[in-house]
Amino acid sequence: MSATIIDGKAAAEKVRAGLAERVLRLKQKGIVPGLAVILVGDNPASQIYVRNKARACENTGIHSRVERMPENTTQEQLHAMIREINGDPAIHALLVQLPLPGHLNEAEALRQILPAKDADGFTLANAGALLTGTKGVLPCTPRGIIELLKGAGVPLQGAHAAVIGRSNIVGKPTALLLLRENATVTVCHSRTRDLASVVSKADIVVAAVGRPGFVTADMIKPGAAVIDVGINRLGDGRLAGDVDFDRVRETAGWITPVPGGVGPVTIAMLLANAVEAAEAYAR
Ligand code: GUN
Repeated sequence: MSATIIDGKAAAEKVRAGLAERVLRLKQKGIVPGLAVILVGDNPASQIYVRNKARACENTGIHSRVERMPENTTQEQLHAMIREINGDPAIHALLVQLPLPGHLNEAEALRQILPAKDADGFTLANAGALLTGTKGVLPCTPRGIIELLKGAGVPLQGAHAAVIGRSNIVGKPTALLLLRENATVTVCHSRTRDLASVVSKADIVVAAVGRPGFVTADMIKPGAAVIDVGINRLGDGRLAGDVDFDRVRETAGWITPVPGGVGPVTIAMLLANAVEAAEAYAR
């Protein structure tokens, strides 16, 4: 049996159509939702992500402000920029594109972001809200993963989920959101003993490793839902996920492609966070 391919572009379109209506309603109240992105340095992948985020804003009627800062920006200059945007009434949501250049302290930078303007849900206040299951801003990729699973009709309650990767951006928050949906969650990482045997028991596998082809067909329980968060550039320039798509699709029940899976819904969720921040501001 061949897996159902979960279409992230279609899911993102649906979210964005709903957001466009909410943006119109805000505009009737005289509010244009505004998202600011700070990009420090010239990481080529980050440049592409930031360009895509700004374009997505424009297509949804959201005002975007992109601040490009040089590689040699100091911690104090970055903090000053964040604080200036915190006070900009035209901006309702702000993100600092990660990773930052090595000399900068990410945690200290994120601490400067006003939690109400935190587009990524990375501030301590929002991370704490996620941990405790209270109201807050959710990180975009994890929120998008849940959206994709629910949209595809994958049963979450009581399912065994294996999350591969324990980053603050994807692995940890995805595990918490799956737990909130009453899944039984195992978080695997580089020190996990016999990772393949853990993953092969899972009904839902989320791969956020950063290594092309890391998840192979022999690790996948027949019928499992496989969500591929990886975006890896191959030697020939092509993009590949963390999952051996061509083989795993023969075993899995559902699978997300790369590109066209998690990426588009991640951006849609960023827009949702921006619109929700503007709606909260309007109240
Ligand atoms: N770098 C990779 N993913 C993300 C993300 O979701 N937000 C930010 N700010 N930086 C990232």
